[in-house]
Amino acid sequence: MIEAIDLTKIYNRGKKNQVEAVTDACVKAEDGEITALVGPSGCGKTTLMSMIGQLLTPTKGKVLVNNEDITAYSDGWKAIFRRKNVGFVFQHINLLPNLNALENVMTPLLCHDIDPTSYKQPALNLLKQLGLTDRTFFEVEQLSGGQQQRVAVARALITEPKIIIADEPLTFVDEASAKTITDFFEELKKEGKTILISTHAANLAKLADKTYEMRNGRMA
Ligand SMILES: Nc1ncnc2c1ncn2[C@@H]1O[C@H](COP(=O)(O)OP(=O)(O)OP(=O)(O)O)[C@@H](O)[C@H]1O
Ligand SMILES: [Mg+2]
Repeated sequence: MIEAIDLTKIYNRGKKNQVEAVTDACVKAEDGEITALVGPSGCGKTTLMSMIGQLLTPTKGKVLVNNEDITAYSDGWKAIFRRKNVGFVFQHINLLPNLNALENVMTPLLCHDIDPTSYKQPALNLLKQLGLTDRTFFEVEQLSGGQQQRVAVARALITEPKIIIADEPLTFVDEASAKTITDFFEELKKEGKTILISTHAANLAKLADKTYEMRNGRMA
């Protein structure tokens, strides 16, 4: 279980371009559930998810994992926590160019003290589950937007994280790819993973066990 308590983020504090992107947001994502964040563009979804996943330091508030306050730890410890426990699917996908789909899926392993080649079969399995077997050795620029998005989903899962944070994972996909990804999330849910998703997509929001609606940085 991961819980955000009164998270606030002020960008560029004290400067002319100061933005209070998130204000006192509370979110609770339970194990074995899909928790959805919805709201209009600019309402603070990415900012909030980045704080929950320890990619961004909150201005105020805390994040509890199984009731333990992880915001109190050092940056180094937070990086280790993130690496071991959190899989991210970024809104802008962020695959590495010049690497093929398989290599992209295995990149998170480079931060771990393990031989990535020992994870080749799990990576191939993930690509298969996401319908990408015939694109395994294609470089990023040879993949469609929807295929890239599915590679990004596979990459988030290679380290077998307990917590999955997916920011608009259906942005670039067609209906068939969307179904592959939503089926995949349903499987993860059955495995007891904690899944937090931001979405505009009705088919994904429909899967959610709990939905939080944001408006102007606050929970509506
Ligand atoms: N690094 C930054 N510096 C300054 N302001 C930022 C920064 N990142 C985001 N913002 C501002 O914070 C607000 C929330 O942005 P955020 O990306 O969290 O929204 P979002 O809900 O994810 O939007 P979208 O649906 O378009 O992805 C926006 O007004 C944005 O301009
Ligand atoms: Mg966003």
